[in-house]
Amino acid sequence: MIDKTKYGWWRSAVFYQIYPKSFQDSDGDGVGDIPGIISRLDYLEGLGVDGVWLSPVFASPQADNGYDISDYRGIWPLYGTMEDMDRLISEAKKRGISVIMDLVLNHTSDEHPWFREALKGRENPFHDYYVWRDGSPDCPPNDMRACFGGSAWEYVPALGQYYFHQFAVKQPDLNWDNPRVRRELYDMIRFWVARGVEGFRLDVIDSVAKEPDRKITARGPRLHEYIRELSREAFCEPGLVTVGEAWSADVEEAKRWSAPDGSELSMVFQFEHVCLDQRGEKWDTLPLDLVELKRCFERWQKGLHGRGWNSLFLDNHDLPRIVSRWGDDGKYRVESAKCLAAMLHGMEGTPYIFQGEEIGMTNAPLELDGYEDVETVNMIAERRAAGYAEADILASARARSRDNARTPMQWDDSPNAGFTSGTPWLAVNGNYREINVRAALADPDSVYHFYRRLIALRKSLPVFREGTFTLLAPEDREIFAYRRDTEREHLLVLCNLSGNARSFPIPPDFEGAERLLGNYPEGGPVLRPWETRMLRAGEAT
Ligand code: GLC
Repeated sequence: MIDKTKYGWWRSAVFYQIYPKSFQDSDGDGVGDIPGIISRLDYLEGLGVDGVWLSPVFASPQADNGYDISDYRGIWPLYGTMEDMDRLISEAKKRGISVIMDLVLNHTSDEHPWFREALKGRENPFHDYYVWRDGSPDCPPNDMRACFGGSAWEYVPALGQYYFHQFAVKQPDLNWDNPRVRRELYDMIRFWVARGVEGFRLDVIDSVAKEPDRKITARGPRLHEYIRELSREAFCEPGLVTVGEAWSADVEEAKRWSAPDGSELSMVFQFEHVCLDQRGEKWDTLPLDLVELKRCFERWQKGLHGRGWNSLFLDNHDLPRIVSRWGDDGKYRVESAKCLAAMLHGMEGTPYIFQGEEIGMTNAPLELDGYEDVETVNMIAERRAAGYAEADILASARARSRDNARTPMQWDDSPNAGFTSGTPWLAVNGNYREINVRAALADPDSVYHFYRRLIALRKSLPVFREGTFTLLAPEDREIFAYRRDTEREHLLVLCNLSGNARSFPIPPDFEGAERLLGNYPEGGPVLRPWETRMLRAGEAT
């Protein structure tokens, strides 16, 4: 087991993201909850993960499924109580699993008592907790747009002012330039550390130092000053892991976020690779150019080696399911899910598995009136108003909606996939009879068992953590091949990301090497459709 008192333990760790609303319901109300998560801890222990990142469980009106917090020190009643949360933390710890909470520090809910006070008048001490500008009803301060559609400014007639919101209208941005706001947030973080939480994922943390008058949201001039202060004041315990969600980070920026001296955060969670298959807006999909993807990973792998630390992920609660996106969720679902997993887990960084990814869950074929996600619902309304064809809107939603990742976890083939005995808050994907945890556990060749072996390998072989990265055949449009090397140990990862059989020359120093893992029976020189192989050469460690 990893010694989690040591700074940097998370470099050997694998994390698992839980979206609580969709993980496991224990009381039949159709919504996942904390007792449900506790009942599945043995499953997570069996998978071998070292920590769980819980998407927000705080009190919230759920305008954005908990990313709109109305009380940072309370639990949303449908998820359970503070006692349940304490029990989750201690039960997880018994199994070697750290609980990582999701801190939304850029904004609150408009139902947070701070915002309610702020609305009472310009003289109210909480007014300056948020970002306000004077204006008249039809003339917002500028034309900035919110990420979930519409203007980023919302008018409050009683005050004659607009408040700024980068996300939904119900998510007013906090004013980080106010030192009282920052102090309140640090106190709240200490409260959770004292309860035994071992780390935090920091939601859109690159947006906190906004300067809306200059139309700056991400990477504001004071950003790193604020992050260093946050780290000093709230994250001083050496074992705490901190993960910064930063859509705007490039490699240079990420070196600052994750500097090995610990002055900012443990690691960055950046999205360059998952933005390669879109044209401008996320709803307009482009085919993935594998050569570009490889270049992107290579830049990050080389750039951060020894100088920073990255998260490795293909799936999360904001992204469509990777097997449907870059794999083949039809004929080669199992092979392609494993191939993509090996491609990712062989690299340097801390892997994150999003619930259901480990059994190869796919996108959900919802109808337009079945979507719950605020971003998708707003997109549907905007595109209808702009005259888009219904079929095109549906195609965008099915390919890109966040609800693809949010359908309930598929535990078994009983009604509602064993997620709930009631009516699920979001429809269960109809393929649960075939794709579910029970079936995956019983089949030694399942995607689940492949993930379990990948996790075990990362923990036993230092080359996964320390090896240099060399991309092979960079211009190959179907095969992603790379090697990782330390002085003593060498790893070769071959991934045929296509449905075609392809030959690929094995580097001479891997002739006769130990086969660590593969998704087909051992074979000759030809890589079969979606085949992956991991080979290891060098001294035993
Ligand atoms: C992050 C979260 C996303 C949320 C947004 C606003 O990107 O991952 O789910 O909607 O921030 O908090």
